[in-house]
Amino acid sequence: MMTVSNKIFLLLLQFFTLLYLFANTFASTEEATALLKWKSTFKKQNNSLLASWKPSSDACGGRYRVICFNGRVNRLNINNSRVIGTLHDFPFSSLPFLEYFKLSMNNFYGTIPPDIGNLTNLICLDLHANQISGTIPSQIGSLVKLQILHIFDNHLNGPIPEEIGYLRSLIKLSLGENFLNGSIPASLGNLYNLSFLYLYLNQLSGPIPSELGNLKNLNYLELSNNHLSSPIPSELGNLTNLSDLGLSNNQLSGPIPSELRNLKNLNDLLSNNQLSSPIPSSIGNLRNLYTLFLDDNNLIEHNNLSGTLPTTFSIGSALRIFNLHGNKLEGKIPRSLENCQLLEVLDLGDNLLNNTFPMWLGTLPELRVLSLRSNKLQGPIRTSGSVYMFLELQILDLSCNDFSKNLPMSLFQHLKAMRTIDKKTNASRYEFH
Ligand SMILES: *[C@@H]1O[C@H](CO)[C@@H](O)[C@H](O)[C@H]1NC(C)=O
Ligand SMILES: *[C@@H]1O[C@H](CO)[C@@H](O)[C@H](O)[C@H]1NC(C)=O
Ligand SMILES: *[C@@H]1O[C@H](CO)[C@@H](O)[C@H](O)[C@H]1NC(C)=O
Ligand SMILES: *[C@@H]1O[C@H](CO)[C@@H](O)[C@H](O)[C@H]1NC(C)=O
Ligand SMILES: *[C@@H]1O[C@H](CO)[C@@H](O)[C@H](O)[C@H]1NC(C)=O
Ligand SMILES: *[C@@H]1O[C@H](CO)[C@@H](O)[C@H](O)[C@H]1NC(C)=O
Ligand SMILES: *[C@@H]1O[C@H](CO)[C@@H](O)[C@H](O)[C@H]1NC(C)=O
Ligand SMILES: *[C@@H]1O[C@H](CO)[C@@H](O)[C@H](O)[C@H]1NC(C)=O
Ligand SMILES: *[C@@H]1O[C@H](CO)[C@@H](O)[C@H](O)[C@H]1NC(C)=O
Ligand SMILES: *[C@@H]1O[C@H](CO)[C@@H](O)[C@H](O)[C@H]1NC(C)=O
Repeated sequence: MMTVSNKIFLLLLQFFTLLYLFANTFASTEEATALLKWKSTFKKQNNSLLASWKPSSDACGGRYRVICFNGRVNRLNINNSRVIGTLHDFPFSSLPFLEYFKLSMNNFYGTIPPDIGNLTNLICLDLHANQISGTIPSQIGSLVKLQILHIFDNHLNGPIPEEIGYLRSLIKLSLGENFLNGSIPASLGNLYNLSFLYLYLNQLSGPIPSELGNLKNLNYLELSNNHLSSPIPSELGNLTNLSDLGLSNNQLSGPIPSELRNLKNLNDLLSNNQLSSPIPSSIGNLRNLYTLFLDDNNLIEHNNLSGTLPTTFSIGSALRIFNLHGNKLEGKIPRSLENCQLLEVLDLGDNLLNNTFPMWLGTLPELRVLSLRSNKLQGPIRTSGSVYMFLELQILDLSCNDFSKNLPMSLFQHLKAMRTIDKKTNASRYEFH
């Protein structure tokens, strides 16, 4: 038996449910109108990919790439839809429940309006691969729920706003492939949940902030192709979860911090900078260096590394590519490289290595590419039987050394392409099999 107050309660419940549904429909109409108004500003009105965006009372009614939640627009994904338009007339205040906003891979141009800061529920903002220009508005710092911010591959210029440091929920931040300049804000060190930071190919200058060492969850840090200078902060050695670190093509200088020994699995590290010692006189540092950088695919080319390679070190047996091209290394090629039985590419070209040609390299079973060009290696090369076969060698460049005799061709009978130039005679020889 229902009491009167129970009945009143039920009636009230029904009333509020209806009111809620009505309010939702109303909101949805407003949202539909706002989206269509924005669509009407696109340059190509006959875009078949957005043909389902027609007037209707419901923004959610089967509209292509609009996903609603409780009758309100929650996701808008017009990725890769050949849209030519701007964000200037986007209904920033009419879509308060928008959480996922993807306009990637279109032809959006113009600037990012400061009103972007009104989309305070955004979890994902993806504008990558467009022609958006101007600066990143500081109001972006209001989007405190953002977990993903992709604006890479646009024409943005000016600084990275330090307000991005307020976006503490960020997991992925990609601002690469723009024309951003100024320094990397230290505030990025506040983004503790960040696992992916992509600033590749901008015009960023100044030092790498040591605060980036706070980002313990970082897996991927790509800062290559900027104008970053000063030494690499030793704090980066705290990023023990890092699997990719790109610092190539900057103007980083000074020593390679030994703390980086904690980092594993690094790719394409440190090429084209102005790093100096160590590779160093101290074997201790060198040992760090090798466990550090020479896991797999790692490069330390075109720096200013000097000193001798140590005669004793043990590199991880995973090493496949060893590239110290274009430094100022002296002395011998250390025989301990023999331990790297998976080595495929060895490039020690453009250094100051002396001593004789390292015959023992011929026993490395996977060696495909060997360049010792432009060193001070001396001959004659002593052959001693058929143990040094260079079985897999495909490319050999020994040009510009001090060999006084031609190399015995029997040594390289499996070779596909070869280049040797004897400095004394300038004789050049290519052989193809
Ligand atoms: C769309 O309109 C453009 C001109 O705005 C025209 O060149 C193009 O052929 C049209 N495409 C279709 C499919 O109608
Ligand atoms: C965008 O479209 C491309 C090509 O169709 C696709 O590979 C990519 O996964 C899409 N991205 C998003 C965010 O939908
Ligand atoms: C965004 O919010 C600011 C104030 O927070 C307001 O001045 C502005 O008009 C809003 N923009 C839109 C498009 O609603
Ligand atoms: C960071 O990640 C943790 C674990 O996923 C989560 O509990 C926390 O809320 C996140 N912090 C922020 C500020 O989003
Ligand atoms: C950044 O570039 C703008 C021009 O786009 C220039 O006015 C400004 O001085 C530059 N800032 C720095 C720090 O280089
Ligand atoms: C490193 O990553 C693993 C999983 O990839 C995670 O479990 C661990 O918590 C991370 N460590 C730190 C210090 O964030
Ligand atoms: C981070 O690295 C620096 C320098 O290498 C060190 O002094 C500091 O204690 C480390 N911080 C943490 C939290 O591990
Ligand atoms: C290379 O290092 C030497 C000393 O180690 C220094 O004198 C020289 O200026 C450096 N060159 C460059 C281009 O950094
Ligand atoms: C190689 O150079 C070092 C100094 O860099 C020198 O001590 C050594 O004698 C040289 N070795 C040969 C074989 O010329
Ligand atoms: C070899 O070439 C170099 C530079 O090209 C030149 O200086 C030298 O005189 C040449 N030597 C001979 C023997 O032709």
